[in-house]
Amino acid sequence: MKSYIVALVLTIFIYSFGANAADDSNLGASFIFGDSLVDAGNNNYLSTLSRANIKPNGIDFKASGGNPTGRFTNGRTIGDIVGEELGIPNYAVPFLAPNATGKTILYGVNYASGGGGIMNATGRIFVNRLGMDVQVDYFNITRRQFDQLLGASQARDYIMKKSIFSITIGANDFLNNYLLPVLSVGARISESPDAFVDDMLSHLRNQLTRMYQLDARKFVIGNVGPIGCIPYQKTINQLDENECVSLANQLATQYNGKLKDLLAQLNDNLPGATFILANVYDLVMELIRNYNKYGFITASRACCGNGGQFAGIIPCGPTSSMCQDRAKHVFWDPYHPSEAANIIIAKQLLDGGKQYISPMNLRQLRDL
Ligand SMILES: *[C@@H]1O[C@H](CO)[C@@H](O)[C@H](O)[C@H]1NC(C)=O
Ligand SMILES: *[C@@H]1O[C@H](CO)[C@@H](O)[C@H](O)[C@H]1NC(C)=O
Ligand SMILES: *[C@@H]1O[C@H](CO)[C@@H](O)[C@H](O)[C@H]1NC(C)=O
Repeated sequence: MKSYIVALVLTIFIYSFGANAADDSNLGASFIFGDSLVDAGNNNYLSTLSRANIKPNGIDFKASGGNPTGRFTNGRTIGDIVGEELGIPNYAVPFLAPNATGKTILYGVNYASGGGGIMNATGRIFVNRLGMDVQVDYFNITRRQFDQLLGASQARDYIMKKSIFSITIGANDFLNNYLLPVLSVGARISESPDAFVDDMLSHLRNQLTRMYQLDARKFVIGNVGPIGCIPYQKTINQLDENECVSLANQLATQYNGKLKDLLAQLNDNLPGATFILANVYDLVMELIRNYNKYGFITASRACCGNGGQFAGIIPCGPTSSMCQDRAKHVFWDPYHPSEAANIIIAKQLLDGGKQYISPMNLRQLRDL
């Protein structure tokens, strides 16, 4: 009798979860791939030099009471904010976290890893990180867990219609691979910028196609931001307040142009799939150029960090100096935007026009 009741309650619970997920207009799951811009704690479980689970990271993250979580910012990432706005009750759990099991994963999983890139060799300076190839391998594991949780047919439907796949990757392929002074000398001598960018895009094409084979249909891919304007690059190149490193921005621009073409091709060639381009480059550039219009007092100086004219050399940690007003800095640390900047960027991705998110915005993608 007891086990009958348990089974009945369980059935009702599973049924109502499934029904909710299928009926309401909320997004079911958010699957997040990428680098430190959206890592929510995977690197906490790796032996890596790329870590953010140290104070004062997370100081404005309400869900942890201001404690560090492994997010490389003071509050929420763009992935967190977008998930919340699209109606997901939990932040997508880090794939490597012990609680990434059972029904929790039905809200989505985060595979992103600080230091990771499209290319496997990217980020080896950090010893360990999850590159995109490995992140897709991990999604393959999650995909089979969904079959077990929902049954093959409902799982397929849920992944295809109720899930969004976001990919925020590419900056490290330049910053922590191609542009690294020591490690990449070989690559830079043997590969022109054009050849390196083409190599990146052919790997990305393969990674996105594998996700499609695993039933992903609603994709949003961020282009590479103005990496020549981050406090780290401005500091090591000893630039002035209003200057950016042109080689770094040129590489990003070159990649971004070809990324746009790749996504147009994939939209044509993979039936039933929608690939959306998030124009992170122009969005962040707008914040950098017109920071005062958005209530910031600086777009060149890191809030948390040390070294040089923009606090841009030593990453944010317990001994760093921290700014007075965290919401008035575009950059939290030498590499990453503040939560205040992330909120503005996320808002444009959710509801903005084609200049920043095309061919449709994320709310339209969810409702497809
Ligand atoms: C899972 O664990 C992480 C810590 O690794 C925590 O931040 C998160 O809130 C937990 N999520 C859920 C849904 O339990
Ligand atoms: C990338 O590295 C992982 C191990 O980190 C390995 O399993 C995978 O085969 C590599 N991929 C390529 C294309 O070399
Ligand atoms: C997923 O994993 C299965 C089993 O290891 C493998 O046969 C399949 O090729 C993988 N699919 C992708 C797209 O990686």
